[in-house]
Amino acid sequence: MFNVEKVREDFPILSRTVRGVPLVYLDSGATSQKPFQVLDAERHFYENSNAVVHRGAHALAEEATDAYESARETIASFVGAETEEIVFTKNATEAINLVAYAFSNATDKARQGHEVDQRFVIGPGDSIVVSEMEHHANLIPWQELCAKTGASLRWFGVTDEGRLNIESGVIDSTTKLVSIVHQSNILGTINPVRQIMEMAHAVGALGMVDLCQSVPHMPVDVHELGGDFAAWSGHKMLGPTGIGVLWGKSELLNSMPPFLSGGSMIEMVNMDHSTFAPAPQRFEAGVPMVAQAVGLARACDYLTHLGMENVFKHERELTDYTLAQIAKLEGVRVIGPTDMRDRGSAVSFVVDGIHPHDVGHLMDSKGVAVRVGHHCAWPTCRRFGIPATTRISTYIYNDKSDIDQAISGIKAAQEFFGTAPKVSA
Ligand SMILES: Cc1ncc(COP(=O)(O)O)c(C=O)c1O
Repeated sequence: MFNVEKVREDFPILSRTVRGVPLVYLDSGATSQKPFQVLDAERHFYENSNAVVHRGAHALAEEATDAYESARETIASFVGAETEEIVFTKNATEAINLVAYAFSNATDKARQGHEVDQRFVIGPGDSIVVSEMEHHANLIPWQELCAKTGASLRWFGVTDEGRLNIESGVIDSTTKLVSIVHQSNILGTINPVRQIMEMAHAVGALGMVDLCQSVPHMPVDVHELGGDFAAWSGHKMLGPTGIGVLWGKSELLNSMPPFLSGGSMIEMVNMDHSTFAPAPQRFEAGVPMVAQAVGLARACDYLTHLGMENVFKHERELTDYTLAQIAKLEGVRVIGPTDMRDRGSAVSFVVDGIHPHDVGHLMDSKGVAVRVGHHCAWPTCRRFGIPATTRISTYIYNDKSDIDQAISGIKAAQEFFGTAPKVSA
């Protein structure tokens, strides 16, 4: 079991103060903080091996290419994938767009009479299935694809408890793709993605999983989840910003048209046409994010050293504690599951009579950083009839004292706005 005090020592930002008090960082669902080990790995790369990868005959180019490709191996093994199944993107949003554009580009090519993989051709009469708890990153690319191609967008609804209603028969023979979030960033719900991917495959559809809030927090094996594609971001799992990952089955990646085109993604180039390299290079046009890949691989090593089972256990204990402390507060309602069944560490709540932004500001005055707003999941807020929530999201460097500080921030907000429960004389 890891020791939180020791973990905290690795995160320089956690020793700073904000608003004159020690920082309590409870916004890791938005982005995680970075340990020395990741910062040092990037610096080491720039100080020693910086060069453009996959080109050049000099020693630095060779070292940079080795660093980049061995980062791919580390990241693949962190999620049980094969190395060539890992495509580096800017973030999860770009990874999801890459797949959406594969559909769009394949459909355009098919309309022009080119031979393409029919699994990516979509049009009127076809459907794409998402859920009412998606982050906008896993909603808007599919809305756009449907608008371009005439396909329809369908979704699983969310129950009052904050769970997916997967019995609603939205997947049927018209479905070409089902794309679902593994753990909701706003509700904290962990969805039965394996079952949903099986439902997709049963009707011949492809399946994609948004792993943004699960890969950083629990052991994940992409093959075990049973989908065809998965996406997540490096910056939420101790890694740098500017790098995300698309995992895809090689057979599919190699039959998809490219997303971005240009240098490094080609096989052969003529003045009037070109052919494309196999995946993953086909999807990595231009000079890629080498230092970020090196940093992300170091983040994977760091988490592997802690043990993802331990990370998950630690966060479950903290989430259980958070829910219990919130339950003691009058006038505070959790949006999402209130028990620990299939639940991750994002805890959203609303406080009677106080706008979530005001709650966030009062918590900030106590040094507590939480996220407020619709969390890029606006339809989910609408489902619960609220404009926004305040969200506590924990990670490996948080402990119960951070939660206590957050709770006193909520109480301070209730006192400031005069909504604190009256104590009877
Ligand atoms: C569930 C989920 N999906 C997708 C994203 C988008 O990630 P990024 O902005 O890094 O692309 C996020 C970010 O908060 C998220 O929580």
